[in-house]
Amino acid sequence: MGGSETSSGVQLAGWMSSTRAWVDHALEELLPRADQVPGRLHEAMRYAVFGGGKRFRPAVVRLVCEAFGGDERAHRTAARAAAAIELVHTYSLVHDDLPCMDDDDLRRGRPTCHVVFGEALATLVGDALQPLAFELLAGGDAPAEARLAMVASLSRAAGSLGMVGGQVLDIESSETSSTAESVHRLQAMKTAAMVRASAELGALSAGASPSETATAGRFGDAVGLCFQVVDDLLDVTATAEELGKTPGKDAALQRGTAVEVRGFDGAKAHAEALADQARAAARDLGWPAGGLADQLITYTLERLH
Ligand code: IPE
Ligand code: IPE
Ligand code: MG
Ligand code: MG
Ligand code: MG
Repeated sequence: MGGSETSSGVQLAGWMSSTRAWVDHALEELLPRADQVPGRLHEAMRYAVFGGGKRFRPAVVRLVCEAFGGDERAHRTAARAAAAIELVHTYSLVHDDLPCMDDDDLRRGRPTCHVVFGEALATLVGDALQPLAFELLAGGDAPAEARLAMVASLSRAAGSLGMVGGQVLDIESSETSSTAESVHRLQAMKTAAMVRASAELGALSAGASPSETATAGRFGDAVGLCFQVVDDLLDVTATAEELGKTPGKDAALQRGTAVEVRGFDGAKAHAEALADQARAAARDLGWPAGGLADQLITYTLERLH
């Protein structure tokens, strides 16, 4: 993480690595073992999930749960929810990398799932990760009403009005001219919807009210938009080693990105403005300036340094 010399950066770096251990422990327990039939499928699911992702969405789930004062049971629920979000996110990456979509051969620092296991199995990895996520949300020991609300939240975020719809707009953006508005819409759907759901799941894990959950969702939305604008900027500036994925893909595929419609400096300024919106949403929730939420926002921007 860039800028980790600051004391807040050091604190967040430790917190991010404990979040990784927390969600990876849940994923390890909840994913079928690689020796369960069909072994090749389970091996491929585990290859995709344990490939060195940042676990950013689980961090949002945990952060929001803790900010709402979640107790021990809330933490257990949040761990399942964080695992569920990461499963849907991982499925979206496996499919995003397929030859029929972005045609990428590097992800999380390793050959993509379809390069190692073939296209048919990689397609089925995504197909299998998704229902497992909803099985996790439906189970556990949280009140039934909270589990139902979590299933509804993630369903909305993952579907045609959320991530999948955003992926379609993203593909279509190669063929049409983009505007700041059209890019904002596609990014709100393909990326921010899932980060919004992460924040909602964190709030629901802690037993937050519907209005608190909605405000947490607005925080997630701004964080998610900022995160995707930074992803667009890094696609232009970062190396494959830094990213763990192939840079320069957006230009090669002529995708509508924040950089395309705003220019490089304009996109950077936009990321800063979205970070300000996220901080404002954190203040609306009564979370302190400079606290963990602000640090996570800073982390998102500092990836640019
Ligand atoms: C990549 O997400 C896809 C986007 C929505 C930008 P991440 O940058 O969170 O990827 P991992 O999970 O760390 O690999
Ligand atoms: C993908 O966006 C967002 C998803 C829903 C998977 P990108 O195509 O920009 O993600 P990367 O850059 O390949 O990670
Ligand atoms: Mg894509
Ligand atoms: Mg891609
Ligand atoms: Mg990208």
